[in-house]
Amino acid sequence: MNMWLMIFMGVVCLGLAIFAFVGGYRLGLYRRRERLDPDEFRILGEEYEIRMRILLDENKELCRRWNVMGKVIASLGTMREKQKFFLVAARLLKENLSADYTAVLSNVGEKYELAAADGFYEGTEHILHYDINDPLISYIESNNEPIALTPRDRQFKTFELITAKIGEVLIMPMKMGGQMHGILIAARNSNRMKFTGGDKVVISYLGNAIGYLTKNIELIEELEGRTLKIITGLAKALEQKDECSRGHSDNVATYAVMFAKHIGASQEEINTLKTAALLHDIGSIGIPDRILNKPGKLTDEEFEYVKSHPMFGAELLKTLGFLKEELIIIMHHHEKFDGTGYPFKLRGNQIPLGAQIISIADVFDALTSDRPFRKAFGMDEALELMTLMSGKNFEPGLLNRFIEFIRHQLHSRRMASYDRT
Ligand SMILES: [Fe+2]
Repeated sequence: MNMWLMIFMGVVCLGLAIFAFVGGYRLGLYRRRERLDPDEFRILGEEYEIRMRILLDENKELCRRWNVMGKVIASLGTMREKQKFFLVAARLLKENLSADYTAVLSNVGEKYELAAADGFYEGTEHILHYDINDPLISYIESNNEPIALTPRDRQFKTFELITAKIGEVLIMPMKMGGQMHGILIAARNSNRMKFTGGDKVVISYLGNAIGYLTKNIELIEELEGRTLKIITGLAKALEQKDECSRGHSDNVATYAVMFAKHIGASQEEINTLKTAALLHDIGSIGIPDRILNKPGKLTDEEFEYVKSHPMFGAELLKTLGFLKEELIIIMHHHEKFDGTGYPFKLRGNQIPLGAQIISIADVFDALTSDRPFRKAFGMDEALELMTLMSGKNFEPGLLNRFIEFIRHQLHSRRMASYDRT
């Protein structure tokens, strides 16, 4: 081995020794280990204990929240009416996040509109209303996780318009299959604590669950809507077979809805009544044509067949699994106030109000329509005849209100035609 090679190897060894020494120094291998005195040990122990307690408390809180969340989702999962569902979702979100304000925005075509709110004052719907191309919507849509906004963020401006009190907003997109169906918003006033990591977990979980449940409700609504169209079409096709009853269910629905509005029924009750009126004689599908279209008087046996149509209609709707309120109205639309009706001979207020309204509208339309054995009665004459049925077929108070309502409509119509001449 020549001398140069020995020098070279010596230099390499020296370099390695320096590198190992510097590395050891940086890792602190040569530092003198300082010993903690007993007080420092005690303080460290106490700090550790406090941190553990906080972690345990947070853990307990999260477990409690998961428990509550399970119940929340279970109760929301049974709801079928979208508007009520959003209202309950906003309320539950407020409770579970201890928020001062919550809102649910729903995607309606090209817009995101306020579907429900809790805590926000009136007029919020004009502010929490976005076009799908709005920068805030694009910002929310690009996230799958909760977004926390404070007054320092550019996107916070919208919420400043609602109230100057808001200090922090938590936003979660409601997504299903990668598509955003809505947005959950929770806000706290500036004098409150900021939302925690646990709050973000809660809104994230609720956002995903509510997104899924909303889509589920929409699918059920679509399916029920299609089924309803088919069955309403069937009822109308049935009417076409009989010249006398053509247009009858539409007329009954019109009178029933107008009268229900007049006596202050809710929109939900009116919707139920309209569907029930359109389908009230659907059970006639089970009556043989020879009986249904018989021009003369029916025999007792034939009349028994006719009397089966409310029950048959109700059974038919029962197989569909929805229209439960409508089913009850249809089942009882031939009951009479004095208990002589069918199929159950219910009397007085045992008869559901919807069934009483349809019964009145049904008789009024029958009297004011042509029949093979008589011409249609005039409106005034029909109302006179119906007063004779007060306390027998109909509850007197309800019938009086119907008669007053129709007379008022007739008077208004006559006045309008008088004005035009
Ligand atoms: Fe009927």
